[in-house]
Amino acid sequence: MVCLGNICRSPTAEAAFVEACSGWREPPEVDSAGTAAYHVGNPPDERMVAAGASLDLSIDGSARQATPDDFHRFDVIVAMDRANLRDLERIRPADATAELRLLRNTETGDDRDVPDPYYGGPEGFTEVVEIVRAATLRLAAELASR
Ligand code: 4NP
Repeated sequence: MVCLGNICRSPTAEAAFVEACSGWREPPEVDSAGTAAYHVGNPPDERMVAAGASLDLSIDGSARQATPDDFHRFDVIVAMDRANLRDLERIRPADATAELRLLRNTETGDDRDVPDPYYGGPEGFTEVVEIVRAATLRLAAELASR
Protein backbone atom coordinates (compact mmCIF):
# COMPACT_ATOMS: atom_id res chain seq x y z
CA MET A 1 0.00 0.00 0.00
CA VAL A 2 1.62 3.25 -1.13
CA CYS A 3 0.81 6.93 -0.60
CA LEU A 4 2.95 10.08 -0.53
CA GLY A 5 4.16 10.25 3.07
CA ASN A 6 3.39 6.76 4.46
CA ILE A 7 1.96 8.37 7.60
CA CYS A 8 -1.76 8.74 6.75
CA ARG A 9 -3.42 6.78 3.95
CA SER A 10 -1.09 3.84 3.30
CA PRO A 11 -0.60 2.70 6.92
CA THR A 12 -4.40 2.82 7.19
CA ALA A 13 -4.77 0.77 4.02
CA GLU A 14 -2.18 -1.69 5.34
CA ALA A 15 -4.14 -2.17 8.59
CA ALA A 16 -7.47 -2.38 6.75
CA PHE A 17 -6.15 -4.91 4.22
CA VAL A 18 -4.71 -7.10 7.00
CA GLU A 19 -8.15 -6.94 8.63
CA ALA A 20 -9.82 -7.78 5.31
CA CYS A 21 -7.60 -10.88 4.88
CA SER A 22 -7.94 -12.09 8.47
CA GLY A 23 -10.01 -15.09 7.40
CA TRP A 24 -7.48 -16.30 4.83
CA ARG A 25 -5.85 -19.65 5.46
CA GLU A 26 -2.50 -18.14 4.52
CA PRO A 27 -2.54 -14.43 5.41
CA PRO A 28 -0.52 -12.38 2.90
CA GLU A 29 2.54 -10.33 3.77
CA VAL A 30 1.32 -6.72 3.81
CA ASP A 31 3.41 -3.57 4.09
CA SER A 32 3.14 0.11 3.26
CA ALA A 33 5.50 2.79 1.98
CA GLY A 34 5.56 6.38 0.74
CA THR A 35 6.78 7.73 -2.58
CA ALA A 36 8.43 10.62 -0.71
CA ALA A 37 11.11 10.44 1.99
CA TYR A 38 9.89 13.37 4.17
CA HIS A 39 8.60 11.21 6.99
CA VAL A 40 10.91 8.18 6.87
CA GLY A 41 11.17 6.59 10.33
CA ASN A 42 8.14 8.46 11.68
CA PRO A 43 5.06 6.78 13.16
CA PRO A 44 1.64 7.31 11.53
CA ASP A 45 0.13 10.81 11.93
CA GLU A 46 -1.61 11.05 15.31
CA ARG A 47 -4.79 12.40 13.66
CA MET A 48 -4.88 9.27 11.47
CA VAL A 49 -4.28 6.99 14.47
CA ALA A 50 -7.11 8.73 16.37
CA ALA A 51 -9.54 8.38 13.45
CA GLY A 52 -8.63 4.70 13.13
CA ALA A 53 -9.06 4.12 16.86
CA SER A 54 -12.50 5.75 16.77
CA LEU A 55 -13.51 3.11 14.19
CA ASP A 56 -11.68 0.21 15.86
CA LEU A 57 -8.79 0.10 13.41
CA SER A 58 -5.33 0.01 14.96
CA ILE A 59 -2.81 1.84 12.75
CA ASP A 60 0.91 1.57 13.46
CA GLY A 61 4.32 1.17 11.87
CA SER A 62 7.20 3.37 10.85
CA ALA A 63 7.34 5.23 7.55
CA ARG A 64 9.66 4.06 4.78
CA GLN A 65 10.12 5.06 1.17
CA ALA A 66 9.04 2.77 -1.68
CA THR A 67 11.98 1.28 -3.62
CA PRO A 68 12.44 -0.41 -7.02
CA ASP A 69 13.08 -3.66 -5.11
CA ASP A 70 9.47 -3.57 -3.85
CA PHE A 71 8.47 -4.46 -7.42
CA HIS A 72 10.18 -7.84 -6.93
CA ARG A 73 9.30 -8.39 -3.27
CA PHE A 74 5.53 -7.94 -3.61
CA ASP A 75 2.93 -9.43 -5.97
CA VAL A 76 0.71 -6.37 -5.94
CA ILE A 77 1.56 -2.72 -5.30
CA VAL A 78 -1.44 -0.56 -4.59
CA ALA A 79 -1.34 3.23 -4.99
CA MET A 80 -3.72 5.46 -3.04
CA ASP A 81 -3.97 8.15 -5.73
CA ARG A 82 -2.96 8.85 -9.30
CA ALA A 83 0.06 10.96 -8.33
CA ASN A 84 1.34 8.02 -6.28
CA LEU A 85 0.73 5.77 -9.29
CA ARG A 86 2.78 8.05 -11.58
CA ASP A 87 5.60 8.30 -9.03
CA LEU A 88 5.67 4.50 -8.70
CA GLU A 89 5.75 4.09 -12.48
CA ARG A 90 8.92 6.23 -12.47
CA ILE A 91 10.79 3.88 -10.11
CA ARG A 92 9.35 0.62 -11.51
CA PRO A 93 12.19 -1.55 -12.88
CA ALA A 94 11.84 -2.86 -16.43
CA ASP A 95 11.72 -6.44 -15.13
CA ALA A 96 9.20 -5.73 -12.35
CA THR A 97 7.06 -8.70 -11.43
CA ALA A 98 4.55 -6.85 -9.24
CA GLU A 99 1.19 -5.75 -10.54
CA LEU A 100 0.74 -1.98 -10.02
CA ARG A 101 -2.77 -0.68 -9.47
CA LEU A 102 -4.90 2.04 -7.95
CA LEU A 103 -6.75 1.05 -4.76
CA ARG A 104 -10.18 2.27 -5.77
CA ASN A 105 -10.07 0.58 -9.17
CA THR A 106 -11.53 -2.42 -7.41
CA GLU A 107 -14.80 -0.49 -7.32
CA THR A 108 -16.81 -0.94 -10.50
CA GLY A 109 -16.02 1.93 -12.83
CA ASP A 110 -14.40 3.90 -10.04
CA ASP A 111 -10.90 5.25 -10.40
CA ARG A 112 -11.16 7.96 -7.77
CA ASP A 113 -8.22 8.86 -5.57
CA VAL A 114 -8.17 8.21 -1.84
CA PRO A 115 -8.22 11.90 -0.81
CA ASP A 116 -5.13 13.21 1.00
CA PRO A 117 -6.31 14.21 4.50
CA TYR A 118 -3.03 15.85 5.61
CA TYR A 119 -3.98 19.54 5.28
CA GLY A 120 -7.66 19.17 6.20
CA GLY A 121 -9.81 18.67 9.29
CA PRO A 122 -10.49 15.56 11.36
CA GLU A 123 -13.43 14.46 9.19
CA GLY A 124 -11.00 13.83 6.32
CA PHE A 125 -9.17 11.25 8.39
CA THR A 126 -12.38 9.44 9.30
CA GLU A 127 -13.34 9.47 5.62
CA VAL A 128 -10.01 7.85 4.73
CA VAL A 129 -10.68 4.99 7.16
CA GLU A 130 -14.13 4.42 5.65
CA ILE A 131 -12.98 4.62 2.02
CA VAL A 132 -9.94 2.44 2.55
CA ARG A 133 -11.86 -0.19 4.52
CA ALA A 134 -14.47 -0.56 1.80
CA ALA A 135 -11.86 -0.67 -0.97
CA THR A 136 -9.54 -3.14 0.76
CA LEU A 137 -12.48 -5.48 1.40
CA ARG A 138 -13.19 -5.47 -2.34
CA LEU A 139 -9.50 -5.92 -3.14
CA ALA A 140 -9.23 -8.88 -0.74
CA ALA A 141 -12.29 -10.50 -2.29
CA GLU A 142 -10.87 -10.04 -5.78
CA LEU A 143 -7.45 -11.43 -4.89
CA ALA A 144 -8.99 -14.36 -2.97
CA SER A 145 -10.98 -15.34 -6.06
CA ARG A 146 -7.85 -15.68 -8.26
P1 4NP B 1 -0.13 10.45 3.20
O1 4NP B 1 -0.39 11.97 3.67
O2 4NP B 1 0.51 10.56 1.84
O3 4NP B 1 -1.50 9.88 3.18
O4 4NP B 1 0.79 9.85 4.24
C1 4NP B 1 0.57 12.99 3.63
C2 4NP B 1 1.58 13.00 4.56
C3 4NP B 1 2.51 14.01 4.53
C4 4NP B 1 2.43 15.01 3.59
C5 4NP B 1 1.42 14.99 2.65
C6 4NP B 1 0.49 13.97 2.66
N1 4NP B 1 3.38 16.05 3.59
O5 4NP B 1 3.25 16.96 2.75
O6 4NP B 1 4.30 16.07 4.42
